[in-house]
Amino acid sequence: MDDEELNEKLNSLMSTAYQEDSDVSEVSLRPRHLCDFQGQDRIKDNLNVFITAARERNEALDHTFLIGPPGLGKTTLASIIANEMGSEIRMTSAPALDKPKDLAGILTNVTENSIFFIDEIHRLKPALEEMLYIAMEDYEIDWVIGQGPSARTMRVPIPHFTLIGATTKAGMVSSPLLTRFGINCRLEFYEEKDLASIITRSSGILGVKIQAEAVSLLARCSRGTPRIANRLLRRIRDFAEVTGSGIVTPAIVEDSINKLGVDLNGLEEQDRNILRTIIEYYGGGPVGADTLSISVGEAVESLEDFYEPYLIQKGYLKRTPRGRMVTPKAYQLLNIKEENNNAGQGFLF
Ligand SMILES: Nc1ncnc2c1ncn2[C@@H]1O[C@H](COP(=O)(O)OP(=O)(O)O)[C@@H](O)[C@H]1O
Ligand SMILES: [Mg+2]
Repeated sequence: MDDEELNEKLNSLMSTAYQEDSDVSEVSLRPRHLCDFQGQDRIKDNLNVFITAARERNEALDHTFLIGPPGLGKTTLASIIANEMGSEIRMTSAPALDKPKDLAGILTNVTENSIFFIDEIHRLKPALEEMLYIAMEDYEIDWVIGQGPSARTMRVPIPHFTLIGATTKAGMVSSPLLTRFGINCRLEFYEEKDLASIITRSSGILGVKIQAEAVSLLARCSRGTPRIANRLLRRIRDFAEVTGSGIVTPAIVEDSINKLGVDLNGLEEQDRNILRTIIEYYGGGPVGADTLSISVGEAVESLEDFYEPYLIQKGYLKRTPRGRMVTPKAYQLLNIKEENNNAGQGFLF
C-alpha cells in the first residue's frame, strides 16, 4: 500500500465509517472546554489535575476509560481532553475496525502525545484487542510482513499516544484491557441543577427565550441525560414558536413533553410500557432480559443500555440474578394495585 492509498483508507476509517449516535445540531451544543462541561465534578476535578500534570511533563495523558449510559458526555469529554491537552484527536468506533491491519494503520500514524478515541470499545475483536495491549503498554505493534508460510512479524515502535476508550457496558470489557487504563471515569446520571445549567447554556447558544421555572421543569424531565435535555429543548422551541409567543414558559414545557409522550418524571412511553409489561404479563417479575425485550419490541441492547439504567436509578426496577423485577414504586407510577400472589407469572394472558 503506498502512502496515498494508506491515507485514503485511514480517512475512511476515521470519519465516514464512524457515525456518531448524535445528530448534527448536537455538535454546536457540545462544550469544548472542561469549564463548560457541567456536573460530574469529581471526574472534572481529577481530569483537570491529570491533564495539567501531563502537560507540564510534556507527556501523553495516561490511557483513559469512560463508562456510562448513552448521552452522558463520553464523546464530549474525549474531545475536551484533546482540546485541553492541545493535542490532535482521532476518533473511531470498535465496530468500524475490522482487521488488525486497520488498527495497525491507525496506530502507526498517530502523532506523539495525541489522543486516539475508540467508542463502543466493548465490541472490539479479540485479535485487535491483543494488538492494543502491546500498543498501550509498550508503544509497539506487531507488524506482519509477507503472506502465507513466509510471513513474519516485526515489532514496530509507535508514538506515545493516549487511548480513550468509551463504553456503555463496563461488564463486557475484558479485564486485561480494563487494567491497562490508568484513568477510569464512570459518568453518572446528572443532577437537576446541572441539567438546568446545561439547558440555560444551550438556550443561550440556540437563542431560545426560556423562563427560569421552565428550565427547572425541563431539567426534571430530562432523564438525567444532557443529550435528552438538549433534544427536548429543541423540540420545545418548535412548539413555543409555532403555538406560543416564542417564549418558553412552564406551561409550554408541560404541554410539549406531554405531546412527546414524556411524563413529569422524565419517563417515556417505552419506559412505562416496560414496567407495565413486567407487571401485567410476568406478575411483576422476575423476567429475563431476552424475554422482556421480545415482549416490548425493543432490542436487548437498548433495553439494557438505555432504558434499564434510568429505571433502576429511579427505583422503578431491580436487576436480580433471576431477572428483572419491578418495585412497589412502579405500581404506584402506573396506578396498578399490587397483588400479593404471583399467579399470573409467566403467562401472556
Ligand atoms: N457535562 C455536559 N455539559 C454540557 N453538555 C453536555 C455534557 N455532557 C453531554 N453534553 C451534551 O450532550 C450531548 C451528548 O453527549 P455525548 O458526549 O455525545 O454523549 P455520549 O458520547 O456519552 O453518548 C453533547 O452533544 C453535549 O451537547
Ligand atoms: Mg458518544
